[in-house]
Amino acid sequence: MIIIDHPNILSQILKKLHQKNRCIALVPTMGNLHAGHMSLVKSAKAQADIVIVSIFINPMQFNCKNDLESYPRTLQEDYEKLLSHNIDIVFSPIENKVMYPKGLETQSFIEVPNITSILEGKSRPGHFRGVATIISKLFNLIKPNIVFFGEKDFQQLFLIRQLVQDLNYDIQVIGIPTVRANDGLALSSRNRFLSQSQRNKAPILYKVMLYLAKRIKKGEMRYDLLLKEAALQLNEQGLIPDSLEICDADTLTLPTSTTQRLVILFSVWIEKTRLIDNIQVNLYHYHS
Ligand code: PAF
Repeated sequence: MIIIDHPNILSQILKKLHQKNRCIALVPTMGNLHAGHMSLVKSAKAQADIVIVSIFINPMQFNCKNDLESYPRTLQEDYEKLLSHNIDIVFSPIENKVMYPKGLETQSFIEVPNITSILEGKSRPGHFRGVATIISKLFNLIKPNIVFFGEKDFQQLFLIRQLVQDLNYDIQVIGIPTVRANDGLALSSRNRFLSQSQRNKAPILYKVMLYLAKRIKKGEMRYDLLLKEAALQLNEQGLIPDSLEICDADTLTLPTSTTQRLVILFSVWIEKTRLIDNIQVNLYHYHS
């Protein structure tokens, strides 16, 4: 496994690999790798000749300084995990100035209209601009044939697909299903901030979403009513809703009579930790 911390060195190595026409996969991460990331890595290994995992805690996508500073940094452990999965290249710039040489103030950015300011974007202004910008930089630098993202960050995956289409990147985007703990909690780097009693409560988020999905599959179409019920159930158990939405999964807008696939998108606070999760529901199976 080669560990590279500078884009220029990465470019030199990639030039040779591209000349040899190797299929290159990219798995972008911010480190603190868990089984969810490893499932992206395994899929990438199965589908490409060369797998590059990037680890970069991208300051541009954090709208809160504390959140950036407290983001878990576990680089050595991450390297060991990637080594045990036979990863070819890890691109892990340590210093922000390697990726943003002139700082963030004057950095050009990528905005994906409509997507960046809705749903998660409302709670985290600037977040998706930061994601779209760093991902474009990684795409331009690495020129991967195929990229892997988790479905856990549903809106992020949606945004990347739009970005690839809008900017004519010749890259295949693969979404990988969310990996969950045995009790249903979606794996996330943020779970480590939960105390034991908060961790015990956290799976309620998924349980309430499953309950909603079940009601929808049974034909309930009054989504506003379902969301009110969900808010009550979550509040009762000490999970404070930040945003509870049911959207058309193919447009991320409000469902209409032609919607085929729904996505239930929830974010909640458990004291100071914000958790997000989603479930997709195929409608045509149930309502036709
Ligand atoms: O999902 C993440 O870890 C980050 O948003 C990503 C895609 C690596 C961009 O920094």
